[in-house]
Amino acid sequence: MAPTLPALLCLGLSVGLRTQVQAETLPKPTIWAEPGSVVPCGSSVTIWCQGPPNAKSFSLNQEGISAPWNTQPLLKPWDKANFSILNIKEQQAGRYHCSYFIGFNWSEPSDPLELLVAGEEPAGPLRDRPSLSAWPGPSVAPGENVTLLCQSGNRTDTFLLSQEGAAHRPLRLRAQDHDGQFRAEFSLSPVSSAHGGTYRCYRALSTDPYLLSQASEPLALLVSDYTVQNLIRMGLAASVLLLLGVLLCQARHDRKEARDAARS
Ligand SMILES: *[C@@H]1O[C@H](CO)[C@@H](O)[C@H](O)[C@H]1NC(C)=O
Ligand SMILES: *[C@@H]1O[C@H](CO)[C@@H](O)[C@H](O)[C@H]1NC(C)=O
Ligand SMILES: *[C@@H]1O[C@H](CO)[C@@H](O)[C@H](O)[C@H]1NC(C)=O
Ligand SMILES: *[C@@H]1O[C@H](CO)[C@@H](O)[C@H](O)[C@H]1NC(C)=O
Repeated sequence: MAPTLPALLCLGLSVGLRTQVQAETLPKPTIWAEPGSVVPCGSSVTIWCQGPPNAKSFSLNQEGISAPWNTQPLLKPWDKANFSILNIKEQQAGRYHCSYFIGFNWSEPSDPLELLVAGEEPAGPLRDRPSLSAWPGPSVAPGENVTLLCQSGNRTDTFLLSQEGAAHRPLRLRAQDHDGQFRAEFSLSPVSSAHGGTYRCYRALSTDPYLLSQASEPLALLVSDYTVQNLIRMGLAASVLLLLGVLLCQARHDRKEARDAARS
């Protein structure tokens, strides 16, 4: 009698699971851009969409644009597809979603990918690049705080901060207006080694939040542990001393041998 109850429970559970699976829609795919989601105007970007291993087709949609961009039906089921935009234009800045097709159904759309196009408008209000600086300085130890300050003398609604090669999307902050000086403070606290790298910031206006100014000059943030650095330096100094000592002994030994040889 004893095994029946667990068996029944098991049966109930699996039936429950199965009905749950049937009721669910196909899980949403993931979307990302290579080399990154901030694209200089006129350059190219590849948008990737990753689904389960047996997808038969993929589709990419830009919000506000009615015609989706479909892949050809795939000859072999595949888990991801790429969409390349060569020579990107301002109109292609915006939010994108992708879906995949399995059996008879399209999946749920992916989370949005914000594609930001930087540096167009040679005569427009975004033509001037902002400046980026680090406070208290560009070299910090892990655990300390650092603030990256992006500012401009030109009207700006939001500032964006991007880290080169980072998977996460750029940080966006509302600009503060200090008597016509627009600025945003991105505080990184506490700093970890993942924060080390090259940063750039951009200006944007609320009329089109996906269009950015040209990038600021790049800023290199160095995150290093002073104690480790000092240990390494001390180690190096010690090995140099040791080497000198060995050379000195060797030289003395050689001289003695030469003297002995001359005597005999
Ligand atoms: C896929 O479509 C078929 C036919 O319309 C439907 O019976 C099935 O439940 C759908 N599956 C999913 C996971 O949406
Ligand atoms: C992009 O997809 C095409 C097939 O549509 C494939 O031939 C190509 O290798 C892919 N690109 C990369 C970089 O994998
Ligand atoms: C931005 O500010 C600079 C310096 O104040 C000024 O020369 C330039 O005309 C401004 N640009 C725009 C688009 O207003
Ligand atoms: C770093 O900033 C946090 C708040 O973000 C603050 O609580 C902390 O005291 C700061 N640490 C240092 C070393 O300034």
